[in-house]
Amino acid sequence: MNSLNEEKFLNDVFLTLKKYLDENTINTPVIKSSTPLEMNKLVPELNQSGVSSKEFLNELQFILDHSVRTTHPLFLNQLFGGADTFALLGDLVGSLLNPTMATFEVAPVLTVIEKRLVKELLKLTGLGTGEGIMVTGGSNANLLSMLCARTDYNPSIRQTGFTHNNFRVYVSSEAHYSFDKAANIIGLGTQNLILVPSNSKGEMIPEELDRIIAADIKDGFTPLMIGATIGTTVLGAFDPLVRISKIAQKYGVWFHVDAAWGGGVVFSKTHAHMARGLEFADSITFDAHKTLGVSLITSFFLTKRTGILRATTRGGGAEYLFHDEERFEWDTGTYSLQCGRRSDALKLWFLWRAYGTEGLMARTEQLLDLAEYAVAEIKKRKSFKLNHANYLNICFQVIPQDGSNINEHTQKVRESLISKGLAMVNYAQRPDGTIFFRLVLPNHKTTKEHIDHLLDLIENEGRN
Ligand SMILES: Cc1ncc(COP(=O)(O)O)c(C=O)c1O
Repeated sequence: MNSLNEEKFLNDVFLTLKKYLDENTINTPVIKSSTPLEMNKLVPELNQSGVSSKEFLNELQFILDHSVRTTHPLFLNQLFGGADTFALLGDLVGSLLNPTMATFEVAPVLTVIEKRLVKELLKLTGLGTGEGIMVTGGSNANLLSMLCARTDYNPSIRQTGFTHNNFRVYVSSEAHYSFDKAANIIGLGTQNLILVPSNSKGEMIPEELDRIIAADIKDGFTPLMIGATIGTTVLGAFDPLVRISKIAQKYGVWFHVDAAWGGGVVFSKTHAHMARGLEFADSITFDAHKTLGVSLITSFFLTKRTGILRATTRGGGAEYLFHDEERFEWDTGTYSLQCGRRSDALKLWFLWRAYGTEGLMARTEQLLDLAEYAVAEIKKRKSFKLNHANYLNICFQVIPQDGSNINEHTQKVRESLISKGLAMVNYAQRPDGTIFFRLVLPNHKTTKEHIDHLLDLIENEGRN
């Protein structure tokens, strides 16, 4: 790209992006379906010479046209969607500044911003004081929780590694699969991640937890951590934290709460009670990219145990980086898993500054209100069977009119919806074979009218 007129080019790029966002209406498909082979043919190979600015803009348009519109109001497929303009701006400015968050020296403003966010989230979650760090996803916050539990049990395992494989971690049968990954990565062994049975709502059964831990201790195992979840991935279930915290206390184990999804309720006056007991957690996973409408990835690991992060993540030989003893407290690289770290904080910071805490709360109430509305509408319509609804998760099936299998029918309706690109809502298969739509509502662009439209679309596809 020779002799680029940078101003004109950036202006053209900006207009293209603005047009893209403006097109997010029900008349624009959420997805243009293509197979991996088709897409593989469409994407150009890299060449020796670069493209012209005109070709570049065409290629930008191609990428926009063929990507899933996660900012579309009918993108309700994952536990994120509809990223806010201020958050997008934070992403852009963060990349423009491109510091590494490892040292205060290179990221002076952004270090303080991240610390401010951590301080506020510690308050809102009820942990009060403590520390925290932004991590590369809720999955890695869960991983960090296990490492902290290990440090808490015995800090010298850092040097020696596990000296036996009888340590155990307990999560519910509905917990996120990242705990399984973490059990592998930290060397606990996935067989030592115990899935405690859940009730029909998907909540961990505390009596079962207590019984299993007691039996394990008798059998010579060492309980390391209990990982409860608020807002399970499929059912949106909230584990009973108060009761589980007592069990953690009884056995003296680290109590982690995966609040990646359900932690959103701390921004709600009407639903904050659902997180009762969160204040007893030793550590918490919180994803601002889920319910707050911040773009991926904006994840936090929070703990009330000041000092545990540094004890857990410190590594030798980093004198080349951390020169200044006075600034040691401010060098977040001294207590993070990574060395180079993106400035994810700015996305949430811009959003929070723009709306204020009250604004974020109002936005959260709107999501919760929308979920209530969607449940009521699904119940009203005879062609749907509501299987389960909690928090922002609504699971329902489409009743076939010809008496065929409801699971197969629901899955076919979903496939048809995707192939036409009309809307994106995921489905889940349960252990008993039930297949349902898992409608989730983290998208701040979605309105009640969109819900009506979505349900009409699904009903139509069901009829056809
Ligand atoms: C309950 C729960 N915990 C953790 C995660 C992992 O979060 P992330 O995608 O940020 O790694 C998810 C992802 O959806 C989740 O649903």
